[in-house]
Amino acid sequence: MANDGDDIDPAALPTAVPTSARAYGWMLGGKDNYEIDRQFIRNTLQGFPECVDIARQNREFLYRAVKYLVQDAGIRQFIDMGCGLPTDNNVHQVAQRFAPDVTVVYVDIDPIVLAHGRALLADNATTTVITADMRDQASVLDHPDVKRLINFDEPLAVLFLSVVHHLPDAENPRRILRTIIDRAVSGSHLGLSQVVADDPRRGAVMSAQITAAGIPWQTRTPAELGALCDGLEPVAPGLVNVLDWNPDATQPPLAPVPAELTPYVGITARNKDLYEYGGLLRKP
Ligand SMILES: C[S@@+](CC[C@H](N)C(=O)[O-])C[C@H]1O[C@@H](n2cnc3c(N)ncnc32)[C@H](O)[C@@H]1O
Repeated sequence: MANDGDDIDPAALPTAVPTSARAYGWMLGGKDNYEIDRQFIRNTLQGFPECVDIARQNREFLYRAVKYLVQDAGIRQFIDMGCGLPTDNNVHQVAQRFAPDVTVVYVDIDPIVLAHGRALLADNATTTVITADMRDQASVLDHPDVKRLINFDEPLAVLFLSVVHHLPDAENPRRILRTIIDRAVSGSHLGLSQVVADDPRRGAVMSAQITAAGIPWQTRTPAELGALCDGLEPVAPGLVNVLDWNPDATQPPLAPVPAELTPYVGITARNKDLYEYGGLLRKP
């Protein structure tokens, strides 16, 4: 590992298999990954060379979505499910740039996220990171930090960004996505995105390959993701390729792509049938 956090117990980290947090983090320019994560990405890129662009387009969408939620929708509390390893412009940093009083609870299943998140958040009283499995929504809702920081009498945003593909249909993704928003007050928002394929056969090949590597995964079609969102009001422009979700030429850039991955940059300009799809939905 290139950059060990001070308080990581290496024995607690799964190192015999790749993890989503570390592999995705590498595509964003992060240093906290192992050879097994990088090899997983190399293997995935052989069949799905769009993935570097897709990861980075999602992370840029995250910035625009959080900015909208704070500036335009007046949201002051966030639960970020499957938050990933800290990088530039994490949710609390984007949100607190526009409203310093914003509260954020980060949730991730990978213990490496907690280790690095703690270091990042040492001086931030209104932001915390917890290790929990979002498939067990009760473990999130009952967590003392969630009870301490999130007020269910006020609007909130719950984010599942580049996370819904980790919830195969057998896990009942609708239940997982809707547990918190269904009990939240009117004006709350659900943010979600995932990798989709217009051709379900290509999506099925991708799902089988990533699942075989040990990472739960289901590439859906746009319609399949949309079906999980009934009863909520789409924020314009609705659920779309995240590239097209309110583009902002002035948003800050991501960390540079690792040198090895630069040949993959720009592939989604040509291959348009595999992409990150998502948006924001408002609870009426
Ligand atoms: C592709 S990353 C997305 C990170 C971040 N949300 C973003 O949009 O930049 C997916 C994250 O979801 C986390 N994850 C996957 N399954 C999870 C689960 N069942 N519970 C909590 N986190 C999970 C992974 O550990 C990883 O950090």
